[in-house]
Amino acid sequence: MLYWMKILGIESSCDETAASVVEDGFRLLSNIVASSMDLHVQYGGVVPEIAARSHIESILPVIHQALDEANCSWADIDGIAVTYGAGLGGSLLVGVLTARTLAIAHSKPLYAINHVEAHVYANFLTDTTLPGYVLRENQPQFPMLAIIVSGGHSQLALFKNHFDYTLLGQTRDDAIGEAFDKVARILGLPYPGGPSVGKKATEGNPSTYKLPIAKLDEKYSYSFSGLKTAVLRLAQTETGHDHTFPSMNLSSELSEAQKANIAASFQYTAIKTIVQKAKLAWEEFSPASIVIAGGVAANPELRRQLSEAIPAPIEYPDMKLCTDNGAMIATLGCFKAMHQQATADPYTLDIRPNLSM
Ligand code: KG4
Ligand code: ZN
Repeated sequence: MLYWMKILGIESSCDETAASVVEDGFRLLSNIVASSMDLHVQYGGVVPEIAARSHIESILPVIHQALDEANCSWADIDGIAVTYGAGLGGSLLVGVLTARTLAIAHSKPLYAINHVEAHVYANFLTDTTLPGYVLRENQPQFPMLAIIVSGGHSQLALFKNHFDYTLLGQTRDDAIGEAFDKVARILGLPYPGGPSVGKKATEGNPSTYKLPIAKLDEKYSYSFSGLKTAVLRLAQTETGHDHTFPSMNLSSELSEAQKANIAASFQYTAIKTIVQKAKLAWEEFSPASIVIAGGVAANPELRRQLSEAIPAPIEYPDMKLCTDNGAMIATLGCFKAMHQQATADPYTLDIRPNLSM
């Protein structure tokens, strides 16, 4: 039996402080995201201490704004869902301790959410009156192949049903988003690297350089560290240096055309790595739907290569729901509540920085 409800979702695993209210697992009532990205850009990556401090400042205003935008009082909320892993320890603590306190103070059930699973659930949102969202018409059907491509994770999972999935494979080293971020540093492009490498790549030719795709024994595993090193060696060779030349000094010696061609060649190969495995899984399991999850889902080259490789309709979450947000947390929280999954103890729920799927 299913129960319907409104869930408040809270997300604070990295640099976004986010909260959202979702109704019945498909209707987005509010979605508030405060990012501390501006504070990290000068360091070329997220600084955990700064992120945690910024969560402390933002989390209550963000939650109140999410309730206001959804026109909800605490009496309307049926439960609280919070990311308890994976993520940065200090950042996760702020969200989890806030959610625990609110669950006790307002006597609400608490749901502990796996951040990576939640990315997949952004695909279940189909309805909103909020302006500026493009949502899919129908929820994905099972069996569902999930291509998870974020800053911290690159995974392929097959969902037979809600809460019944198999992890087909994952990256052995860097996540694809991480690879974009590292290549951005080599090319002197701003953080986060995904959007900036993607933009530079539009000016370049992807067939200028042939970069390697790792060959692995496991059918559905990925590796991106070799590709990242290949980009470094390429940039060193192009600027006439050997492999001892420091990566941070390369960008000033590369021409704009070289940067664009390296960005395009890297992006093409990194995306191809993901698409090749997705195609194999699609052929082996004939899923009824394919969903893409995580920040790299916003990448246009991924969308282009997937549509070329897999002759099935693929829908994507709205761009604002691809990167970290509270709506995906609330949506998975709704399904947990509707399917009467176990609740978490608000007096003891702990963070799990290394939680995997
Ligand atoms: O899912 P997400 O917001 O955070 C994690 O859970 O990791 O993903 C962030 C990652 C970053 O590495 C960022 O560079 C990448 O997503 N990203 C993109 C694009 N937009 C964000 N990568 C490629 N192309 C994009 N347009
Ligand atoms: Zn994420």
